[in-house]
Amino acid sequence: MVILDGKKISNQIKDEIALEVSEMKQRGEKVPHLAAVLVGNDGASLTYVGSKVRSCKRIGFESTLKHLPEETTEEELLQLVSDLNEDPEIDGYIVQLPLPKHIDEQKVLMAVHPDKDVDGFHPTNFGKMALDMETFISATPYGIMELLRRYEVETEGKHAVIIGRSHIVGRPISILMSQKGKAANATVTLCHSRTKNIAELTLQADIVVSALGVPHFLKADMVKPGAVIIDVGITRVEDETKEKGYYITGDVDFDKVKEKASYITPVPGGVGPMTIAMLLKNTLLARERHRAKA
Ligand code: GUN
Repeated sequence: MVILDGKKISNQIKDEIALEVSEMKQRGEKVPHLAAVLVGNDGASLTYVGSKVRSCKRIGFESTLKHLPEETTEEELLQLVSDLNEDPEIDGYIVQLPLPKHIDEQKVLMAVHPDKDVDGFHPTNFGKMALDMETFISATPYGIMELLRRYEVETEGKHAVIIGRSHIVGRPISILMSQKGKAANATVTLCHSRTKNIAELTLQADIVVSALGVPHFLKADMVKPGAVIIDVGITRVEDETKEKGYYITGDVDFDKVKEKASYITPVPGGVGPMTIAMLLKNTLLARERHRAKA
């Protein structure tokens, strides 16, 4: 069994980007600038956005955090999005999800200029991705693909079972893995809350991607020996014995499933850090595109 070490690979990717940034600096070019918008004080979102901003610093990107109060109106947020679209200093930005309930998430994501949409959430970018065109690919599915590529995991002709149909992970990864190319060419089954007998399907899977957010959902008796297991779940489970009052766990019953798997991602340290690395890669691409246009 091989652990797909997202922490290690994400550090390699960050080192590669840092090298490109230092070359940009030597040529006297502007370095990439990522902005992150966070509305409210959701604990997990604060952690993610903090990691994104810290990673920018580590690799030499400029970063800006726009932290707005929970009561921010949709109109105010749309104004900030419009300002970021117009700001020539900002190469790309993200609006951290989830947004407070009183804000229409779709309306906000639609307002992000596709050229600055380093999350790849705008319909223009999602559509391009689905049509095999070059674009910003959402960081989590992009990170999974990159992890599979760098470990040279064979996916061609394999049966990949995806659990979860979210716009951010399940839907895009189902499209990417069925496309032509490396870490792709798989036969994909997409499972969701209305799927009957998920275990029957996962037992047939050569690759399982679980993006459900239910701790320990995927048990060893649901997995075929030798399967590749990608765990996208990141759930905080309350635990008073821990310093923070919680621990982080994935969708997979890791200790038991790892005994059957050929490759498996840990949580934390698997898909999570890859997401950040790929967001940075998208921001580098955004900068290069802006420079080419200037
Ligand atoms: N919330 C959970 N994952 C993501 C992500 O990849 N991007 C943004 N903007 N919000 C998220």
